[in-house]
Amino acid sequence: MDSLFPLPDRIELAAGAVLLPGAGLAEQALLVSALESVLALAPPRHMVTPGGQSMSVAMSNCGRLGWVSDRGGYRYQSTDPDTGLAWPAMPDCLARLARSAAARAGFEGFEPDACLISVYTPGARLSLHQDKDEENVAGHPLVSLSLGLGASFQLGGLARADKPLKVPLVHGDVLIWGGPSRLRYHGVAALPDGEHPMLGRRRVNLSFRKAG
Ligand code: SIN
Ligand code: FE2
Repeated sequence: MDSLFPLPDRIELAAGAVLLPGAGLAEQALLVSALESVLALAPPRHMVTPGGQSMSVAMSNCGRLGWVSDRGGYRYQSTDPDTGLAWPAMPDCLARLARSAAARAGFEGFEPDACLISVYTPGARLSLHQDKDEENVAGHPLVSLSLGLGASFQLGGLARADKPLKVPLVHGDVLIWGGPSRLRYHGVAALPDGEHPMLGRRRVNLSFRKAG
């Protein structure tokens, strides 16, 4: 939805946590078509947690490494467990956006080798967690692009019990968290129903990482 008031193009939410509202809009058609071609090769699936629960968010990956969860735990691996094939390559337009967004947030030289794609349908949610399966957590930020339906992102603190800040994320928004914010807990509240002109009844989050 268009805002009546001009939005700032860079909002520092906390030290090392920066929101770039609408940073993906200029190239939205290219980004969405790159996303759909990745999902055609590696369809999103509901992974199982180590505890045996099926996640409400369906996930896929592109890039050299992909994040997976199963009964054995969480890890990155170079192949899609559903097909045994390498994950689809990371499309240039996505890697370029991640790089430039990181630089705008103060993290020069970010070179993602993994992009976790999370597909939310109405009701899907992601409980508070830290992203810490990457090899050098301290050295690289996370860059997250949201497409499709809007969601309420929860940016927590460094302790699970810290009260999260609610950050509404809409189509085209890019959120970066690194440095002193890199290990903040975060999650996504249950997705409200809706229909997005480009993505239908879906929210898709692309989370770029330097994993290996
Ligand atoms: C994630 O934590 O990996 C996904 C966050 C989001 O969907 O915005
Ligand atoms: Fe995460």
